[in-house]
Amino acid sequence: MEPRLSVCVLLVLCVTGSVTGGKILVWYTEASHWINMKPVLETLVDRGHQVTVLVHSSSLFMNSSEPSRFQYEPFNVSLSVEAIEKFVEDFLNFFMYEMEHLNYIQIYIRFIEIIKKNMQTTLTLLDGVVKSETIMKKLKEGNYDLLLADPIYPGSELTADILGIPLIFSLRFSIAHHWERKCGQMPAPPSFVPAAMSKLTDKMNFSERVFNVLFYALQDIVVEQFMWKEVDKYYSEIKGTPTSGCELVGKADIWLMRTYWDFDFPRPFLPNFKFVGGIHNRPAKSLPKDMEEFVQSSGEDGIVIFSLGSMVKNVTTEKANIIASALAQIPQKVLWRYKGKKPETLGSNTKLYDWIPQNDLLGHPKTRAFITHGGANGVFEAIYHGVPMVGIPTFADQPDNMAHIKAKGAAAVVSLNFMTAEDLRDAINTVINDKS
Ligand SMILES: *[C@@H]1O[C@H](CO)[C@@H](O)[C@H](O)[C@H]1NC(C)=O
Ligand SMILES: *[C@@H]1O[C@H](CO)[C@@H](O)[C@H](O)[C@H]1NC(C)=O
Ligand SMILES: *[C@@H]1O[C@H](CO)[C@@H](O)[C@H](O)[C@H]1NC(C)=O
Ligand SMILES: *[C@@H]1O[C@H](CO)[C@@H](O)[C@H](O)[C@H]1NC(C)=O
Repeated sequence: MEPRLSVCVLLVLCVTGSVTGGKILVWYTEASHWINMKPVLETLVDRGHQVTVLVHSSSLFMNSSEPSRFQYEPFNVSLSVEAIEKFVEDFLNFFMYEMEHLNYIQIYIRFIEIIKKNMQTTLTLLDGVVKSETIMKKLKEGNYDLLLADPIYPGSELTADILGIPLIFSLRFSIAHHWERKCGQMPAPPSFVPAAMSKLTDKMNFSERVFNVLFYALQDIVVEQFMWKEVDKYYSEIKGTPTSGCELVGKADIWLMRTYWDFDFPRPFLPNFKFVGGIHNRPAKSLPKDMEEFVQSSGEDGIVIFSLGSMVKNVTTEKANIIASALAQIPQKVLWRYKGKKPETLGSNTKLYDWIPQNDLLGHPKTRAFITHGGANGVFEAIYHGVPMVGIPTFADQPDNMAHIKAKGAAAVVSLNFMTAEDLRDAINTVINDKS
């Protein structure tokens, strides 16, 4: 991973046109996107750059009071933390528990509602930057050399345009690669490039190809109608002239795509698209003493690590009991990151933790398998440390990520809603014992 990181930093240096270190402005982000961004910022600081991160007053994951080696530029927003938490909870509920029981039409109706709500929320956050004279004045006077953004929150392309500075994206994916294709001009022939979120792989039969073509077309309509229309209206109002958000996104100088060929399939791309999946990977450090003792007590059988990611801290009691009884049936010791009520069926081999040092555990020689929601950060850590996975994917790119890893032969996948304890137990045993 180190050479890839250096390439990325080198690129950033070239864009700033300076070897003495530039002034980098970083767009606000959240959850796993922020977890991924942090080590990149640390590296930029190591290389002599000055890094300033925009953070809004209701952020759930970014904390400007936390000691850090980069600076924060806090701004106020009219949304409360509670309103954002409520949105996240509804979002998770839909994707984790409701979606699998609905048909395609019902899913789309709810999905469009969520996109609309998300647009409203994210544009309200953007008000805090572009409609605040104080902040815009500060940003102009900051004389930044470039803006680095994960474009899941809109507005970085508008702000880079207003400030007249280069823009670098760090992007995991957009639905059906819409932003990359339509705005960034990256080719994606539907005959062999599976659309992001389609759960397809590079091996498609005729009907899957047809589905892929329709999937691209449908997502393009949804994104145009429910995202770009709103964004264009907003940007045009701010700029005082008709403005296309997609065109501004297309002006990004470099796209750092958080995917890689150990995870994705061959596809055409452009020279300003750099593939940096796993950019956050680090060697494992040693574990806290009591955790190390528990890990060592597993003997020859080793351990299994279980986490559903930064957003999902608990599951329903029913699911927790199914999971716990599956875990009780395997010979390994299990470290489960879980904040809910202790399941009744919890076995003596399983320990619950509020938080786990995931990367350090994945790099531990006793680790045999990783049960994961399939978020890209964890998947790349498991690839880096060579740990096979059992996926229980829920939302966003997770089902797609696990379909990729399964196709590559490094994972089994089960469904949170439909699995039995036996399904989960067998999946774990398969990835541990089946070496092919
Ligand atoms: C933010 O960081 C400060 C300093 O480390 C800490 O005291 C505070 O509890 C943190 N806030 C949140 C919401 O985590
Ligand atoms: C945000 O609000 C606080 C409290 O009202 C105020 O002190 C601060 O100056 C505001 N920050 C900005 C950047 O407007
Ligand atoms: C294509 O593959 C899917 C998934 O494996 C399968 O369900 C479907 O029957 C196949 N269709 C044809 C025409 O072979
Ligand atoms: C998870 O815990 C929160 C807070 O304790 C609770 O409000 C929520 O209903 C729980 N979720 C599930 C799925 O049980």
